[in-house]
Amino acid sequence: MNASDLRSGRVKWRSPSNIAIVKYWGKHGEQLPTNPSISLTLSEAATTTSIDYKPGSGLVEFLFEGNRNEEFEDRVTKYINRIAGEHSVLHQLDLKIESSNSFPHSAGIASSASAMSALALCLGSIVHKGAAMDERAFLEEASFNARLGSGSASRSVAGPVMLWGATEHLLNSHDEWAVQVEDVDPVFSTFRDSILIVSKEEKQVKSTAGHALMNGHPYAQQRFDNARNHIGELLSILRNGDLGGFVDLCEQEALDLHAMMMTSVPPYLLIRPGTVAVIEALHDFRAQSGLPVCMTLDAGPNIHMLYPESAEAQVRPWIDSELLRYCADGMCIHDRVGTGAKQLEG
Ligand code: PMV
Repeated sequence: MNASDLRSGRVKWRSPSNIAIVKYWGKHGEQLPTNPSISLTLSEAATTTSIDYKPGSGLVEFLFEGNRNEEFEDRVTKYINRIAGEHSVLHQLDLKIESSNSFPHSAGIASSASAMSALALCLGSIVHKGAAMDERAFLEEASFNARLGSGSASRSVAGPVMLWGATEHLLNSHDEWAVQVEDVDPVFSTFRDSILIVSKEEKQVKSTAGHALMNGHPYAQQRFDNARNHIGELLSILRNGDLGGFVDLCEQEALDLHAMMMTSVPPYLLIRPGTVAVIEALHDFRAQSGLPVCMTLDAGPNIHMLYPESAEAQVRPWIDSELLRYCADGMCIHDRVGTGAKQLEG
């Protein structure tokens, strides 16, 4: 939209969350990753955001699940001012932003990836209104802007498999935005992710503080080297449909991430007794069933149980009968890999 062509309108996007298999942990500069990461895009856990815009002076009103939220409004206003550095038309519009999540706010699920991705996509649709733009370039810019809000959000704009961070293992990979990984074996594009909510409590150490603790961390260099190697290994696993390799690498990464937390200065612990109980039950189940089911963790106590669609008929009853007892209010969100964000209006 040109400044000379200001008008009112409405845009709306739904963006899913994502789950990293090789984790982003540690950053530098302007929200740049210290190592590349690879994630599976989800489909059910999502944020839907709409923006009503009209000519004005850059005022921002933000409603989360129907209610005005001043803390979010403040953060979103600062974020939009940052984006407006490149897209000054945003200073000449008033925005009414309404956002809601498909999952309960209290579920202990990090929503920054889906939220920042949905917001960046809406802003992209506004600033490029009326301009012919190639889809790939649009998504790349949305990923760039989403990254400025939350690193992992850069990977939510598309799917099913996204890579963020420059690596010699993938041509066109970049530190400033995520790219889609092509030629992935179809078994991964229908993978299931059952998210076991072990605790709904707010984390004592937020991601931003966790990333900062990687500066000067005694094992940081080793961790960054491991992650970079894991990127090359995971790309071959994904292309070859190597489920055994996926199981091993996925759990190695999850535990590497939490080992960093336990060995930072000062150390901290985000897993809970229920997390350990679920992991032990999973290892028994895998040994007995021979199924390629594995887990990963975000920066929190909840378990993402990952398995191919073909194992669903056996895994779901096991979760219901053996694992819900470890979940807060028996809560488990059954999700699956998806293709990324969708524009609903505008
Ligand atoms: O995007 P952030 O700053 O909330 O960091 C996310 C970090 C992890 O979820 C732990 C890993 C990842 O790559 O998503």
